[in-house]
Amino acid sequence: MKQRVAILISGRGSNMRALVEAAKAPDYPAQIALVLSNRPDAAGLAWAQAHGIATASIDHKTFRKDREAFERAMHEALMDAEVDLVCLAGFMRLLTPWFIAQWHNKLINIHPSLLPSFKGLDTHARALEAGVKLHGCTVHFVRPEMDVGPIIAQAAVPVLDSDTPDSLAERVLAQEHTLYPHALAQVLCGELAVNGLRVTATKKATTKP
Ligand code: GRF
Repeated sequence: MKQRVAILISGRGSNMRALVEAAKAPDYPAQIALVLSNRPDAAGLAWAQAHGIATASIDHKTFRKDREAFERAMHEALMDAEVDLVCLAGFMRLLTPWFIAQWHNKLINIHPSLLPSFKGLDTHARALEAGVKLHGCTVHFVRPEMDVGPIIAQAAVPVLDSDTPDSLAERVLAQEHTLYPHALAQVLCGELAVNGLRVTATKKATTKP
């Protein structure tokens, strides 16, 4: 039976769309039970609504800096939707240790760099400045420290001499859209063991890269 996945977004939601598209396959282990945004005007939210997916918006601004109250409201929405696992996809709020503990090893994120390099924002410009020849994206389990957590999967792209932050971002994003559905399937199929920061395969992978 498909497991119930929520996707948390703040913006355009292209990774959310990739997960929604992947979940349409009958043999994909997830169904998208909820798309939740902290920004009522997120473009991704309108897209999800238009595609018949259950959506909710919980505006962090109405919680007047009470981060935990905001997160309790999100947690309640996730419980109401009977969610098994949460995917962060361009969700631009830092989460407290309380929320992260509620979803231990059931909360994953995609980050546009090869972690542990380039945590935080503006990863593509910083990769260019640093002169790296390989850049990419990472899907990882979420831990309280930002952009730190056991790495589930990564995809690399070469950095070209002609690259600008935008051109590099575009090639990385294309990889994100394949990597995230693949990594989510691996997690849901129970093919992974987590030991500290290491994630290892417990059986021969059945999900295709
Ligand atoms: C992606 O680059 C993702 O890696 C990062 O935020 C961006 C979200 O883009 N966490 P989108 O909203 O999925 O298009």
